This record gives sequence, structure tokens and C-alpha cells, in this order.
Amino acid sequence: MKLLVTGGAGFIGSNFVLYMLQQHRDYEIVNVDALTYAGNLENIKAIEQNPKHTFVKADICDAAKMDELIGQGVDIVVNFAAESHVDRSILEPDVFVKTNVLGTQALLDAAKKHNVTKFVQVSTDEVYGTLGETGLFTEETPLTPNSPYSASKAGGDLLVRAYQETFGLPVNITRCSNNYGPYQFPEKLIPLIISKALNDQPLPVYGDGLNIRDWLYVEDHCSAIDLVIHEGVNGEVYNIGGNNERTNLHIIRTILEQLGKPESLITYVQERPGHDRRYGIDPAKIMTELGWKPKHNFETGIRETIAWYLDNKEWWTRIQSVKYEPYYAKQYSQRFEGTQ
Ligand code: NAD
Ligand code: DAU
Repeated sequence: MKLLVTGGAGFIGSNFVLYMLQQHRDYEIVNVDALTYAGNLENIKAIEQNPKHTFVKADICDAAKMDELIGQGVDIVVNFAAESHVDRSILEPDVFVKTNVLGTQALLDAAKKHNVTKFVQVSTDEVYGTLGETGLFTEETPLTPNSPYSASKAGGDLLVRAYQETFGLPVNITRCSNNYGPYQFPEKLIPLIISKALNDQPLPVYGDGLNIRDWLYVEDHCSAIDLVIHEGVNGEVYNIGGNNERTNLHIIRTILEQLGKPESLITYVQERPGHDRRYGIDPAKIMTELGWKPKHNFETGIRETIAWYLDNKEWWTRIQSVKYEPYYAKQYSQRFEGTQ
């Protein structure tokens, strides 16, 4: 079996490639990543010499390159490559549309031409918009994205659906809730809070801190995608989540407690425009139809994650100093103004 995995130098993609090479030792993986600010070859250093893994630096929008690579006997395409950070999409929406919509289309065209046996689009629960105090996202929830990021992911999803309906391409779309774990870029809430708290710096909390996210340990997301690749019914959407809804303040307080840092670091800053209030996944379909079950609960997952960031300080300090400081200054200087 030959897989083409895109975005495999990013957070979830790198965890997925490492996971798949462990689970399926005879599979061959071509890992395509443009190495944007979020891509990092250090994430896949452990498989540098693995003959079953080939890394190709390329942009998924490069249709000719995707055609060439998928034309070399690829059976399955798994598309993780994306611009993934909501705050960046508010500053620069155009690159989100380019990669998340047009890049997906370039991959779909190549997959169609070369008759792949499965195309898995790794999407997000954010395409469903926001929930009130009750209810959960199911696969039937209408798409009502609220940020340029989620709108561009919804655009990609609709193209994937259309290629199944129009051309009979065998596809699945997965929509997962918030991931956390090793190798997450420190712009996202959990690694941002861990790294700032370790440096005794203010922790920026948007709004009242009571927005809710539904957290899933990254390895559980990987096992769900592995299952969808092999057992997913063509054309179906699968929501992925582990029923771990927490407010942002709960997450931050848990991290502070485990690091032995004071709550006085919590700093309420300017709200994120269009900030979704609550996400919550109903995972009944993937659990009952495909038999998926997460292995980690939030309490063990967050402990392991904090331990990983403590053990891998060099990994995130290098990213922060090389790729992150100018962005942080631009994104947060105004947010901190006039707040306490
Ligand atoms: P990430 O930002 O950490 O990684 C994205 C990777 O894609 C990077 O390695 C980057 O270099 C690469 N990339 C970006 N543009 C590219 C392009 N044009 N061509 C080739 N490679 C490109 O993101 P992540 O958090 O690992 O998310 C991966 C996927 O999972 C995304 O599609 C995202 O929408 C989805 N997702 C993420 C979460 C989450 O909580 N992080 C939850 C659900 C779904
Ligand atoms: O739900 C899945 C999505 O989860 C993925 O599709 C996205 O790629 C991923 O980035 C994530 O989106 P969120 O916007 O939920 O994640 P983020 O880590 O940016 O923020 C989580 C919550 O924390 C959100 O309510 C905003 C808040 N937050 C975030 C940052 C970065 C803060 O209060 N302060 C911050 O500095």
C-alpha cells in the first residue's frame, strides 16, 4: 500500500506519519509538505532514514507536481496540508483560500486522474460553526463557518463531496475537534500557555475565557483516520471527538496547577473577532459504525503533553525564536493594550 500524506511535517500530520509507520510496517508513505512556518522537519527526524518514508518539499497547489507524485503508484491520499490557525486567517485570509480550497482541488484532480482507491480529507468541527449551551455537532449539522479559516475548510470539504458525486471519486471527510499533544506549534492555546507559563509571561485569554472546546489527544485522531482509510464507507463524513469539553479557563488553570505557576499570570485580552462560543462533537457514528474508541482521557493526555513540552524545551524555544516572535508581536501587541 502506498500513501501520499500531505502536511506531514506539521502537528497532526507528523504524528500521523509516525503512527502509520508503526502500525503498518509494510506501507510506503510519500510525505508532501511545503514547510510553511508551521512545517518542521524536526517533527519527523526519527524517520529520516526509514526506507518506507520519503519526504518531498512541495506545495499542494502545484497541480503538475501533485499529478507527478500521485501518478507514481499512490493508492491512498490523506490531506492534512492546510493553513490551520484561526487568528492568522483573520489577518491574512487569502493564503487560507489558496491552500485549503485550491490546494485541495489540485489534489482531487490528480487523485481522480490516477484512480486512487481512497481520498481522505482531514477537516474540522469548525465548519459547523458554533453551538449554544446544549446539543452536539453531528454529521448532519449544517455547515455555517464563522472564520476565514473554517470557511476555507468548508470550501475544501464541498469540493471533496462534489468529486465523489460528479466523478465517483472514493472519498471520506473527517471532522475532528481540537487536538493537543506532542509537536503542536506554540501559537495554539495549550502549547502557548505551557510555554508562556514556563517563562512566567502573561497568558492571553480572549473574552471571558469561558469558550468551550472539545479536546482530543492527537494519537486518538490518528487512530480514527487509520480506521477511516481502511473501513470508511465511500462518500461518508465521520465526526471525531472524545467528549472532553472544557472551558479555556479550565485548561489554563489545569496547566498552571501542574506547572506550579500562579493564576496571576492570567491576563484577559481583546476578544477574537467572530469567536465561536462552544464546540462539542457527537462521535456516535464513527464509534458504532467503525468501532473507534479513544485511548486517552483528558486528564492523562494533558499530563503527558505537559511532560512532553518540559522534555522538549529546545524544540519549542527554537521555533519561538526563529519563526514566532514577529507574529506574536503583531498578533498580540494590540490585544494586550488597555487590558489587565
Ligand atoms: P499545522 O498548521 O500544524 O500543519 C499544517 C502543515 O501543512 C504544515 O506542515 C505546513 O507546512 C503544511 N502546509 C501548509 N500549506 C501547505 C501547502 N500549500 N502545501 C503543502 N503543505 C502545506 O496544522 P495541524 O494542526 O497539524 O492540522 C492539520 C490538519 O488537521 C488541517 O487540515 C486542519 O484543518 C485539521 N484539523 C486540525 C485540528 C487541530 O486541533 N489542530 C483539529 C481538526 C482538524
Ligand atoms: O476545533 C478544531 C480546530 O481547533 C482546528 O480546526 C484548528 O486548526 C485549531 O487551530 C483549533 O482552533 P481553535 O481556534 O479552537 O484553537 P486555538 O488553539 O487557536 O484556540 C482555542 C481556544 O482558546 C479558543 O477559544 C480561543 C482561545 N485562545 C486562543 C489563543 C491562541 C485564547 O483565549 N488565547 C490565545 O492566545
